[in-house]
Amino acid sequence: MSPHKQSIQAEAAPLTNQPQPLIQLRQVYKVYETAAGDFPALRGISADIHPGEFLGVIGKSGAGKSTLMNMITGVDHLTSGEVIIHKDNGAVSIHTLSEDALALWRGRSMGVVYQSFQLLPMLTLVENILLPMDLCGLYNRTESRERALELLRMVELEKHAFKLPNHISGGQQQRVAIARALANDPPILIADEPTGSLDSVTADHVFEVFERLIENGKTIIMVTHDNSLAPRFSRHLVIQDGESIPDPYPVGTMSTGSHRPGALPGYHPCILPGHRPGVLPGGQGPQPGRGKGKR
Ligand SMILES: Nc1ncnc2c1ncn2[C@@H]1O[C@H](COP(=O)(O)OP(=O)(O)O)[C@@H](O)[C@H]1O
Ligand SMILES: [Mg+2]
Repeated sequence: MSPHKQSIQAEAAPLTNQPQPLIQLRQVYKVYETAAGDFPALRGISADIHPGEFLGVIGKSGAGKSTLMNMITGVDHLTSGEVIIHKDNGAVSIHTLSEDALALWRGRSMGVVYQSFQLLPMLTLVENILLPMDLCGLYNRTESRERALELLRMVELEKHAFKLPNHISGGQQQRVAIARALANDPPILIADEPTGSLDSVTADHVFEVFERLIENGKTIIMVTHDNSLAPRFSRHLVIQDGESIPDPYPVGTMSTGSHRPGALPGYHPCILPGHRPGVLPGGQGPQPGRGKGKR
């Protein structure tokens, strides 16, 4: 058999049964136009993001990590290349979507957590979590409120539900931000330096929440400049000067959720009681006709 034929066969029959990637980056370039001239912040990044993985995007400050997250969430436009998502059983390049379609997909598919929490200071914790549900319209008012309280219970902050954000600690605010990011039950969580403002003990608590979410099937992309966190991820995308470089870090021993069906039987603080994706405790699903195609 010729080498050419062999390579065609290899493509036709993948070696693993890995599910289809959730997101595919293909030669993503981002050039910022500045007064000092064009600045290439991303220079041809390609990567696949698989369901159930805890991907650590690691690189020094200025490497291009936040820029890359903005390309994945579609909040900023790439200069060239493609970000391919899987939507309605088809692959779509996000730059071909209208702003409305992109916003709808983003609202239902990903939750985002930032270093600075970005809770709205005039709203109580429960109101902060209600906001994305109100915007997305998957749940009615009673369901949303119930769900917001359940999410606060999940991050062990239910008793603070009616406080304002500046009346709780930074670590607690970040846990509220995680609960808010999960409000519409997205399969993907994106966290840009979520532990960057926290002391190590508090950061560890946030990490534990992520690890439990992974064990229960979420996909997390977490950005960090702290390479000592590398062993806690299931895979790394290492960025340097806008390019991905070979991974110099060991990966952790933790398996990802998709490889551990049925992980953690019994009570788990990150699972809503009786919760199935898109289904509220008590068995009510999203509003008929409104929740369709959520996943
Ligand atoms: N809006 C912008 N205009 C011009 N340059 C930018 C802009 N945003 C980021 N940059 C530059 O792009 C590079 C990558 O930035 P960023 O993605 O924020 O890095 P990181 O998140 O890894 O610290 C940096 O040199 C930064 O100064
Ligand atoms: Mg950044």
